[in-house]
Amino acid sequence: MEFPKGFLWGAATAAFQVEGATAVDGRTKSIWDEFCEVPGAVVGGHTGEPAADHYRRVDEDVRLMAGLGLQAYRFSVAWPRVRPDGGRVNQAGLDFYSRLVDRLLEAGIQPWPTLYHWDLPQALEERGGWAGRATSYRFADFAESVAGALGDRVENWTTVNEPWCSAFLGYAAGVHAPGRREPEAAVAAVHHLLLGHGLATEVIRGTSAGAKVGITLNLYPIIAADPESPADVDAVRRLDGLQNRIFLEPLLLGRYPEDVVADLEPHGFAGHLQDGDLEIVSAPLGQLGVNYYAEHFVSGAAGPAVPGSPWVGAEHVTFPSRGLPRTDMGWEVEPAGLTKVLVRVNRDYPSIPLYVTENGAAYRDVVAADGEVYDPERLRYLESHLRAAHAAIEAGVDLRGYFAWSLMDNFEWAEGYAKRFGIVHVDYDTQVRTPKMSAMWYSQVARGNALAA
Ligand code: NOJ
Repeated sequence: MEFPKGFLWGAATAAFQVEGATAVDGRTKSIWDEFCEVPGAVVGGHTGEPAADHYRRVDEDVRLMAGLGLQAYRFSVAWPRVRPDGGRVNQAGLDFYSRLVDRLLEAGIQPWPTLYHWDLPQALEERGGWAGRATSYRFADFAESVAGALGDRVENWTTVNEPWCSAFLGYAAGVHAPGRREPEAAVAAVHHLLLGHGLATEVIRGTSAGAKVGITLNLYPIIAADPESPADVDAVRRLDGLQNRIFLEPLLLGRYPEDVVADLEPHGFAGHLQDGDLEIVSAPLGQLGVNYYAEHFVSGAAGPAVPGSPWVGAEHVTFPSRGLPRTDMGWEVEPAGLTKVLVRVNRDYPSIPLYVTENGAAYRDVVAADGEVYDPERLRYLESHLRAAHAAIEAGVDLRGYFAWSLMDNFEWAEGYAKRFGIVHVDYDTQVRTPKMSAMWYSQVARGNALAA
């Protein structure tokens, strides 16, 4: 099963999840450093230390990627390293990423930086965070610094990673940093993250004319538990609105979906839009990144609001079980959903190059007596999803590449270090890296640009 010539094979990480070194070279606190200190916020009381110590081991990690034959590395740039407290530029922070880019290019690996993977400087949160419009402009300032430092060597950029999580998990459900449970702030954050994306896009293009700038969304097919039930069908409409369309439509069509705007009116959504914003948000994208993990199988049967729900305006929706196999995160395994999201974006929106910027699974890996890590479930997960990606290409989708999540085990946000997503195992006591069986397999797929039939 061959992939198109030039299909890009990569792996992804994010700064706070892998770097560690949270208090060196001028870095200041992000909202995640602060959130980790809240008792009960993160499983096991885990923090951004030591993570995978990637900040200090970056040379070794690039050699590891080269050994696996990876063609691209998607990483994120820590805002509080580059602009501590969201303020002045910190050259030491920029130097780290500049060196990483050099090492990658020397190894023949394309650098794919993401500018915002959830580590807002805590000082900016104290001035309102993403609920405030000013943060979008501070983000553009940060983007300008990074583009100025790396723009001569980086072609492909991602502005924001999964704005849904930042807005709704961070400001409505409160299970991610900054841990706020304020629906009004969450809907404001949606618009300000998108505005920040648009402003950053302009700035990056202004700095390097050939830059391809995109954004990464976590898209889900939304499936009605009972397609005959009007309540379930309405739950699908609402969740598709909140998860998918509220981001896809402004980015790709230059407007917010009317039904979602109406649903969110009690929370004051439209009040955050100013004249000209949607032109900024809908600046043409170089590519769209799709992160895919699972489908949402939903029921809207009337009932009390689910406490701590991220679904602003649809807090009564529930997620019944279909009895599908689940990963260690408890997420259902449904590879066909990847084909569905890719085909849907291709069908409903203007044509644009797509990349799977994340896909992968957490399982309970152990190092065997012979020192190897055998992870057949992850291997099967990756293989079935690559088949699903291939099916989308055969259906005419312009899919250009795939990034496994994750290159290595790391800090899985509120779940701490217990959930392992890496294709490379990390021993957090010794920082020894061991490519898992899935990494060996993925390496062969990347080298051959094909799956065994
Ligand atoms: C999406 C996020 O971008 C990433 O940071 C996270 O670790 C994975 N999903 C797995 O939950």
